[in-house]
Amino acid sequence: MTERETLHSDSKSKTLLPGSVIGVLGGGQLGRMMALDGTRMGYKFIALDPLPASPLGQIAEQITAPYYDADAAKELASQADVITYEFENVDAGVAKLLEERSYVPQGSRLLYTTQHRLREKAAIEAAGVPVAPYREITSLESLQEAAAELSLPCVLKTATGGYDGKGQVVLRGEEQLEAAYAELSSTGAELVLEKFISFTSEISVIAARTPEGEVKSFPPAENIHVNNILHLSIVPARIPSDVQRRACQLAEQVAEGLNAAGLLAVEMFLTEEGSLYVNEVAPRPHNSGHYTMEACSTSQFEQHVRAICNLPLGDTTLLSPVVMVNVLGQHLDEAIRRTTSQDPAAESLGIVPKLHLYGKSDSKHNRKMGHINLLCGDVHDALEWVEQTNIWRH
Ligand SMILES: Nc1ncnc2c1ncn2[C@@H]1O[C@H](COP(=O)(O)OP(=O)(O)O)[C@@H](O)[C@H]1O
Ligand SMILES: [Mg+2]
Repeated sequence: MTERETLHSDSKSKTLLPGSVIGVLGGGQLGRMMALDGTRMGYKFIALDPLPASPLGQIAEQITAPYYDADAAKELASQADVITYEFENVDAGVAKLLEERSYVPQGSRLLYTTQHRLREKAAIEAAGVPVAPYREITSLESLQEAAAELSLPCVLKTATGGYDGKGQVVLRGEEQLEAAYAELSSTGAELVLEKFISFTSEISVIAARTPEGEVKSFPPAENIHVNNILHLSIVPARIPSDVQRRACQLAEQVAEGLNAAGLLAVEMFLTEEGSLYVNEVAPRPHNSGHYTMEACSTSQFEQHVRAICNLPLGDTTLLSPVVMVNVLGQHLDEAIRRTTSQDPAAESLGIVPKLHLYGKSDSKHNRKMGHINLLCGDVHDALEWVEQTNIWRH
């Protein structure tokens, strides 16, 4: 028996016990790490991914087909007891089809909301949580009006499809509006203009929620980006503890407001005055939550499996200060060399580096190939180690 039907307000939620098969839309590193933890817990995994031997497909069953392939989605639905996804740009038609044919505790509604910045912001505001002031942009004239209302600097973003800073332009002077509008409107996506928040730090909180409504969050990570790609997550975040508590509370409030199931990663800006604004959310494991793998009692991946299977959520206590540093294509060789030989610098600083690699065969510039979790006595020592090594010079 791998299922336990439970009776409560949402009659659709089911408890999936070990032995159940978890189908994952997407076969990237997030799915792979979900399956590494989920397999230990006794679950089986099957991926749907267009690339043969995807990071998840290397350690689980895989159906190799495009995401929009209806027959492949039906095949996934027939083989899995429960379906989840590891990216949010799932085709709406496929999401609906899966929901009709299988059990998708996260639901297509959560995807519909988080796939689109305007819908996402409206839902966050409806949950009573602040976002940066914004306007919907439908023409160059509306951009000019909105820029005057919000006052520059602002950020013009596509409402859909953006990632790692792609699909957005920072506007500092009126003379930039026309070119920015021409560039982003040519993508065909709807546009949104946001007030530029001059934040003192960027943080993220990963909250988990079960279909029955239990909610728990991980300690906030302080995130440093380089070229719009996450470089470091520092935990504990170097912000006051009352702000940390408030950030967790806001993330949980958003997870409840969006009626989320599974993980919800909530990115926020912290300002000089101590205000928090939610930037964006992701209904899946998040790069800034990789630190939990060694540093918390429960990893974000185990927590996601627990949440979608309706098990009690795991303890989220931080066991050790930690810095997570991403290994991009250009860092790979040196990161491997450094972590596979004696490292007197790590020893003298009291750092324990843990290398995680995603099994991607071609290493490209700026491609996420893995990460290192640096367990430490104090995050300052781990940051010193990052500085001292030559890995992240370019
Ligand atoms: N309104 C804003 N004010 C200041 N910085 C911003 C704003 N929006 C985005 N940014 C910066 O750009 C980065 C990427 O933007 P984000 O909306 O998170 O898009 P992506 O989907 O690419 O992660 C953020 O992490 C932040 O550093
Ligand atoms: Mg972001």
